[in-house]
Amino acid sequence: MHEIHRSVVVLGSTGSVGTQALDVIAANRDAFAVTALAAGGGRIDLLARQAAEFGVEAVAVADASAVPALKEALAALGAAPKVLGGPEGVAEVAAWGCDVVLNAITGALGLTSTLVALEAGRSLALANKESLIIGGPLVKRLAAPGQILPVDSEHSAVQQCLWAAGPDGHDPARVKQLVITASGGPFRGMKREEMADVTPRMALAHPTWSMGPVITVNSATLVNKGLEVIEAHLLFDIGFDRIEVVVHPQSVVHSMVEYVDGSTIAQASPPDMRLPIALALGHPARVPGAAPAIDWTTAHTWTFEPLDDEAFPAVALARHVGAAGGTAPAVYNAANEACLDAFLRGELPFLSIVDTVAKVVEEHDVTPASSVEEVLAADTWARARAAELTAGQSR
Ligand SMILES: NC(=O)c1ccc[n+]([C@@H]2O[C@H](COP(=O)([O-])OP(=O)(O)OC[C@H]3O[C@@H](n4cnc5c(N)ncnc54)[C@H](OP(=O)(O)O)[C@@H]3O)[C@@H](O)[C@H]2O)c1
Repeated sequence: MHEIHRSVVVLGSTGSVGTQALDVIAANRDAFAVTALAAGGGRIDLLARQAAEFGVEAVAVADASAVPALKEALAALGAAPKVLGGPEGVAEVAAWGCDVVLNAITGALGLTSTLVALEAGRSLALANKESLIIGGPLVKRLAAPGQILPVDSEHSAVQQCLWAAGPDGHDPARVKQLVITASGGPFRGMKREEMADVTPRMALAHPTWSMGPVITVNSATLVNKGLEVIEAHLLFDIGFDRIEVVVHPQSVVHSMVEYVDGSTIAQASPPDMRLPIALALGHPARVPGAAPAIDWTTAHTWTFEPLDDEAFPAVALARHVGAAGGTAPAVYNAANEACLDAFLRGELPFLSIVDTVAKVVEEHDVTPASSVEEVLAADTWARARAAELTAGQSR
């Protein structure tokens, strides 16, 4: 008998994190059951196969026009779960009966699901960092202590280091700083001018992680690391002056906590998202064999180097918007999502992504982010302003 018995809802089930979560669940059927799934609507056949394989009660697609195709695909597989369409359908699934909701939707669109799952009192395994970052005060107000379990490997690592330090591990009087590791992405070591001609194909080739396109390009600009610094601040209540970023190209040490006595605790494992996903789903239990461990019978070299803030200004900019708080992080994220789309369409040079985000952030009048409407208004304004500033630019 397994010590874990959890029912799970997977939002974003057809994506990189979603499919890996279902791999973990499929390998541990006695520990986990899936009650409902949601996705965008881009991969209907896969979504239908997942719904049939896990025998879910409900399945939602954000794109309501995909509902007939989904019903047809489910019928062909002999499956008949409740089918929901549109953002309201996704929200209904986010509140579906279960122990844990995994939010693996990509981008700012994940905010409603995070709020709905928290309000419904579910444990929230959070891959969709954007919802925490843009909705900071709203999400924090709703979340009970321990209700959010991070899926991002860096934050899972920090969480594990804090747990490892015992009941007082998190005491602000004991923690000197969090050290978030970054692979450095495909352009590590390059100077700014060397990145002028970067193409989407080059930016989508991550050296150590295989992930969805948004987070992969965000790893190339280091915007992802900037988002993670804000995420760490919000999850662990540590000031921005006590969150360091260090480049670690091997992506084996996933992050560290340095204590006031000079001791540093690190979490290490080969780069494999199944480990932090399994821990977020099964906590406090660990899922045996969730991912391969480090092979200590072979030689390893782990290196660490400081971040080049001049070549990669996205992290410093994130600290600035994180400290400003309110709607500033939502504007940083939305401007970036708009610029990233334009870059992937071949309509914006790589370096203009972060340059434009900085301009949009500078123009924004920060407000407190005390309602979803206020956050979404800031998000909409930032996307429109980024589009205006980048119109007519091309690679
Ligand atoms: N990938 C990683 O290794 C990794 C690591 C750490 C953190 N994260 C974070 O995890 C999140 C997901 O990343 P990913 O790489 O897995 O992204 P991804 O591969 O692009 O997958 C995104 C998923 O979200 C679904 N989706 C899109 N719009 C939706 C909507 N409106 N409602 C419901 N579902 C929607 C997509 O459905 P369709 O298939 O229908 O489009 C897909 O299932 C991001 O926040 C990312 O930063 C990812």
